[in-house]
Amino acid sequence: MAMWGGRFTEATLDEFKAFNDSISFDYQLAQQDIAASKVWAAGLAKAGLIAADEAKQLQQALQQLAEELLQNPRLPVESDEEDIHSWVESKLTERLGAVARKLHTGRSRNDLVATDLRLWTRAAASAVRSSLLGSIQALLNFAEAAGTAVMPGYTHLQRAQPVMVAHWALAYVEMMKRDLGRLDDASKRLNVCPLGAGALAGTGVPVDRSWLAQQLGFDAAAANSLDAVSDRDFVVEFSAAASLCMTHVSRLSEDVIFFCSGEAGFFKLGDAISSGSSLMPQKKNPDVFELLRGKSGRILGQLVAILHVLKGLPLAYNKDMQEDKQGFFDLMQQWQQSLQVLATVLPHLSVKVAVCRQAAELGYSNATDLADYLVGKGIPFRDAHHLSGQLVLIASGQQLPLEQLSLTEMQKVCPDISEDVYPALTLEAGMARRNALGGTSPEQVLPALVQARAWLATQQ
Ligand code: ARG
Repeated sequence: MAMWGGRFTEATLDEFKAFNDSISFDYQLAQQDIAASKVWAAGLAKAGLIAADEAKQLQQALQQLAEELLQNPRLPVESDEEDIHSWVESKLTERLGAVARKLHTGRSRNDLVATDLRLWTRAAASAVRSSLLGSIQALLNFAEAAGTAVMPGYTHLQRAQPVMVAHWALAYVEMMKRDLGRLDDASKRLNVCPLGAGALAGTGVPVDRSWLAQQLGFDAAAANSLDAVSDRDFVVEFSAAASLCMTHVSRLSEDVIFFCSGEAGFFKLGDAISSGSSLMPQKKNPDVFELLRGKSGRILGQLVAILHVLKGLPLAYNKDMQEDKQGFFDLMQQWQQSLQVLATVLPHLSVKVAVCRQAAELGYSNATDLADYLVGKGIPFRDAHHLSGQLVLIASGQQLPLEQLSLTEMQKVCPDISEDVYPALTLEAGMARRNALGGTSPEQVLPALVQARAWLATQQ
């Protein structure tokens, strides 16, 4: 019989039970449910509601159950219990008899499930954090290995201005530093304890909620019982942090896929992280980056789903909230795995320095440098832009790069141009000129890499 069966006279319909039960997925909260129950038993003893010896028996049996679950985490799924909370209680009853029936004194599954899920999220967030740091580390290694390699930077997916490959990698490091900030920020708000909020109105037993919170490693007890049992903001916050982080991973993947394409050919994928085609023998595909891009869609979907579940729910607990788990478990697991995989595959990605350089020199990406040169000759930028554009038109008509136009031809467009234009049009000169803070000159990028490494060292 269900733990709530006292006021019922008819048996539960099988179809209803199958629909209502959550054990098939909330078994993943077993360790957290046990940890919270051990502390609750201690709290009951401290409040004089059960004997010290009874608390000890409960804790020992809970500990034994925790160890059995380590051997077989899916053990609860085989049972007919409604959810993980009922399963833990029924296991204890099997082993301890009447004492086990005292454990639920003064608590509800509503404060328990909210506590369990916060404990679970705390552990999952810590795993995500390590993997995110691993990805940042791998990007820094990639940036360092790229040295002073230069490739085209794009706007509108048209070649725009050359950038250092390391500058490209460090752009993603900046995004991931912010992702880490969001994760840490959400972790701070996560760390309050709902235990002792009861079903909705607060518990009727004189437990010390602050002590319970402290025992479970929380910073404080949740201040309002109605809020404590119905707040799933943390699920939304972590889902949002995951969505944005995975959006960054997706953009990075898209860049890599393009850079590895036959059209660009800037990066080379190692065999160990590529797959082939069953039909076309020549193919080497960037499946791993495509999957990372695809996973981001799945994670974004979970964010939308939980927002829809919560929107419009009256206070306090509603069964709709059982729908917070499956998508969220999946999201946190996929997020962590994606970051771990990214860190693992990045070392297998190499830069084809000569191809990058050649591409950076194509496409008139030094046209801005020519305009800047003219500005140096005292011509207002808007006029310099126009003159440089005219020279691009002439050069492209002859299928020549700007630096191969003769001085006479250039002077026809602008008499202020002299021999010193040629050194100004080299890739090196263009790169060195972008030297203000945050720019792509080697003088900016190399120290940025050092700084990012120093930052990372403070995070581990
Ligand atoms: N399985 C439920 C959930 O995940 C646990 C809480 C059940 N509470 C209740 N009053 N029915 O939300």
